[in-house]
Amino acid sequence: MIRVSEATPHAVTPFEAFGGHPFFDRLVAAFYRRVETDPVIRPMYPGDDLDPAKERLQLFLEQYWGGPTTYSDDRGHPRLRMRHAAFPIDYAASERWLDHMRAALDEQELPLELDALLREYFEAAAPAMVNAP
Ligand code: HEM
Repeated sequence: MIRVSEATPHAVTPFEAFGGHPFFDRLVAAFYRRVETDPVIRPMYPGDDLDPAKERLQLFLEQYWGGPTTYSDDRGHPRLRMRHAAFPIDYAASERWLDHMRAALDEQELPLELDALLREYFEAAAPAMVNAP
């Protein structure tokens, strides 16, 4: 017997199309490997351990692209500009962040359209976080 959940087609979310949790895990790990050694950005992250920050970014991105809502279940509405207010982010810092994310994306070798979707998103999101001259 076929259960309704198996018989009913559902629209694939971008989260699923990218490759689900394993994809975001690889992307965010590749990104934070670069942040780790960045002399401008690394000092902004509190503490020695980048893992909690890595997890927050990963859960946020998974939620944003239609995956599980664990980020907001745990932390509430993202309000990302507000959450970045404590860190003085100038244009140069935002460009460094974006460069690391672009390099992390390059490593994933996504199909062109999916790659462009994420790249354009980050290219809009990073400058939106600038809060210092
Ligand atoms: C533009 C340059 C950026 C810099 C320098 C920056 C830096 C930081 C820092 C220092 C933190 C605190 C680390 C922590 O959570 O412990 C943080 C948190 C976070 N950032 Fe960024 N960020 C930038 C852009 C972005 C962008 C573009 C996104 C999303 C597309 C993003 C998503 C997040 C998220 C989800 C958190 C955790 C917020 C929370 O729940 O507290 N950041 N960021």
